Amino acid sequence: KFEGLALTPPMGWNSWNTFDTRIDEKLVKEIANDLVDSGMAAAGYNYIVLDDGWMTRERDANGNLVPDPAKFPTGMKALIEYVHSKGLKFGLYNCAGTKTCAGYPGTRGYEYQDARFYAALEIDFLKYDWCNTQGITAKEAYTTMSNALKKAGRPILFSICEWGDNQPWEWAEPLGNMWRISGDIYPCFDCEHKHPENWSSWGFMKIADMRKDIRKYSGPDHWNDFDMMEVGNEMNDTEDKAHFSLWCMLASPLFSGNDLRKMSKETVAILTNKNLIAINQDKLGIQGFKYTVLEGVEVWVKPLADGNWAVTFLNRTESTQKIAFDWKKHTIKDLDFGYEANFIKQVFKVTDLWKNKSIGTTEKVFKTEIASHDVVTLKLSL
Ligand code: DGJ
Repeated sequence: KFEGLALTPPMGWNSWNTFDTRIDEKLVKEIANDLVDSGMAAAGYNYIVLDDGWMTRERDANGNLVPDPAKFPTGMKALIEYVHSKGLKFGLYNCAGTKTCAGYPGTRGYEYQDARFYAALEIDFLKYDWCNTQGITAKEAYTTMSNALKKAGRPILFSICEWGDNQPWEWAEPLGNMWRISGDIYPCFDCEHKHPENWSSWGFMKIADMRKDIRKYSGPDHWNDFDMMEVGNEMNDTEDKAHFSLWCMLASPLFSGNDLRKMSKETVAILTNKNLIAINQDKLGIQGFKYTVLEGVEVWVKPLADGNWAVTFLNRTESTQKIAFDWKKHTIKDLDFGYEANFIKQVFKVTDLWKNKSIGTTEKVFKTEIASHDVVTLKLSL
């Protein structure tokens, strides 16, 4: 892979969660404008990624992929130039199989040709999916594409979308800058959604919980990817806030998946919260974990640079919960990375990151009420 393209979790926008394959040139330009005008670009969201549906159903006579001229009448190259002119980066999607999940031409057998095509278009990001892959092994398929991108010469961030069945965290670090760890997210808090075709997608709480033992595989330039966000889609602002907090705690890539042309000011405020983004982008690059659960309130923790920590209290229950958290009765140990917060030996200053307010130190018991599905995220600083 090209090293160094994702030293902190990549951030941007992806078309899939809202638009499915209904994407076109006008949409991309409007999204690019809104990414800048809303303040999201300044907050760090700098990739625009077109997911499945940008191609015609067949390759051309030379075997090249064809951006759909009905969707992109001015041409993909001009569109990418437009996105670049806004100071943004651009990504495309394809699939390791014979066809993409939505039935467009897949890359199998065309890896080097497609890599040259992407380099010529000057894309910056490739998401590479895993449908229609009967008879091939994941590690080999992703190795071939990673090598092909390298050979084509343009630094393109390689986003592996294999869903976790072949444990990409065990082999993908040299190949890609991020890899999905699950099937698809769904805009709900804690549901399993059964699709008519008989597969499932999940609410963000289920995805966050899905794999407990793989955090040691995530870090700078090789991130566990918890999927594009559903913030601003079908959940309420409280749940969106919880979702965003967890994706920050998990050091997941942050790709918004909402319609930026119609988002509320609350959605913008959640997606651009500087304090939370700083937790996600912390240079130590450590994925947080669930430390404990108290009366249905989950306590997630994340070691940060300079001996600091982030702590998120998340009320998973259906009613308001009162908590009283006596720091001194806890020693938080991160056994994967060897960090420890010992509140007898160390006193931390405490900041409420959503309220942007200092609230004392860890010498004082932390008492609060948390509404159903709401969160409190704190930064503990030495
Ligand atoms: C499955 C992936 O997991 C989704 O994120 C999306 O890329 C779709 N395929 C597109 O068909």
